[in-house]
Amino acid sequence: MQRTQLWIGGKWVPGAQTVTLKNPHTGEAIAEIDYASVEQAETAIEAAHAAFTSFQGTPAHRRAEILYRAAERLQARLEEAARIIAAEGAKPIVAARAEMERTIQTYQFAAEAAKAVHGTTVPMDAAPRGERHTAYVIKRPIGVVSAITPFNFPFNLVAHKVGPAIAAGNTIVLKPAEQTPLSALFLADVFREAGLPDGVLNIIPGYGHELGEVLSTHRHVAFVTFTGSPRVGKIIRAQAGLRKVTLELGSNSPLLVDEGFSEAELDRIVAETAGGAFSYNGQVCISIQRVYVHQSQFESFTEKLAARAAQLRVGDPMDESTDISALINEAAANRLKGWLNHAVLRGAKVRTGGKFDGSIMYPTVLTDVPTDVELNCEEAFGPVVTVTPFDTWTQAIEMANNSKFGLNAGVFTKNIERAFQAAERLETGGVLINQIPTFRVDQMPYGGIKESGSGREGVQYAMEDMMEVKMVAFRTGVFA
Ligand code: SIN
Repeated sequence: MQRTQLWIGGKWVPGAQTVTLKNPHTGEAIAEIDYASVEQAETAIEAAHAAFTSFQGTPAHRRAEILYRAAERLQARLEEAARIIAAEGAKPIVAARAEMERTIQTYQFAAEAAKAVHGTTVPMDAAPRGERHTAYVIKRPIGVVSAITPFNFPFNLVAHKVGPAIAAGNTIVLKPAEQTPLSALFLADVFREAGLPDGVLNIIPGYGHELGEVLSTHRHVAFVTFTGSPRVGKIIRAQAGLRKVTLELGSNSPLLVDEGFSEAELDRIVAETAGGAFSYNGQVCISIQRVYVHQSQFESFTEKLAARAAQLRVGDPMDESTDISALINEAAANRLKGWLNHAVLRGAKVRTGGKFDGSIMYPTVLTDVPTDVELNCEEAFGPVVTVTPFDTWTQAIEMANNSKFGLNAGVFTKNIERAFQAAERLETGGVLINQIPTFRVDQMPYGGIKESGSGREGVQYAMEDMMEVKMVAFRTGVFA
């Protein structure tokens, strides 16, 4: 069986302990993963710090070239990478390939953005005391970036941290999710072949509070970027002190479906809703969890969505026709089982699904779900969606906003006034009109408000946070 090590300073290094990684679908052991100790995390940070001394001066065209080459290497090895995602994350293979296509684009966007970093000039004579001064602003890389990434997009959400960090001239210590370390470790070879200098990217699988703490508090760490749960996000924010932090946390994304759609149009909206609610078993931060449908179309929409969900193929992630597979682990299935039972006890009606088979949850559509049960108010991160009718558009927006989260919201309407109202009033980092909230292309700004986090990803937006603004002013005519 494959055994992996830590990637520190351009070398493979044995870890402090070894943990068996299992395929969530079959339960088979697939690799022995070395985990880093706190001391090894410190060594990785030191390596990144040492590499920063020279990497910060690497010209933009060279950083871009490395990122383009990494994208090319990933293109050449796309199938291999997709199979890793499917094996360690139980992501259906078709979705895993789609993730790889996006990952390649994310690194290409990073390459382009590396060449576009620029500052501005300051209109100094706008103030009388500024006369006879010339000033400009340059952008400098921030330093060592600690990146802590989730299991659900083990290549692309890593790319959203590693790509901008390299593009900006930073160095990185990456701690991937315990469930999906192989995808991250795959990058060591990719970036070595792409010509990235040793120590710029360090990859340390591991687990535990102490490891997280050193990544957020070490004196050489300048920036922390985390994608994961609000609980951990709050700990990181508290530990990071004055450092800049980007937090991409959870959501229970709403979709609003207005009145006035034909049956054919509703079919199309339902098909897209099913995609947004059930792809990768709903283990997506912008998965559709709460749908609000105008009373006039509520029954028809719900029936169609339940029928569509029931047709999804449940099975082996390696099978080309599989739509739904195992959740990331049994704990996730048990949590969802508990939340479902609670919702049903409180009066929710199961329109389809509601069944479990080991770690698989069948795609589930619920109605009559009280607003205060977990499946409405927490982040489900599973293949389950609640459908609720509304009478007025104002009420729909209020229900959508009745959430502690605020990442993306989706809206289907033919009424331009209502579209603008939704765009203005929905309390989320992104509003998508006539599109599902799950839609994302990787150059978009992406991030949330409320408990969905702070800061934005999307390559050029992430880069802004990973650079310092430096002002340079010249007084002129002093010694003339
Ligand atoms: C996420 O789950 O936060 C990322 C979703 C995506 O990139 O599509």
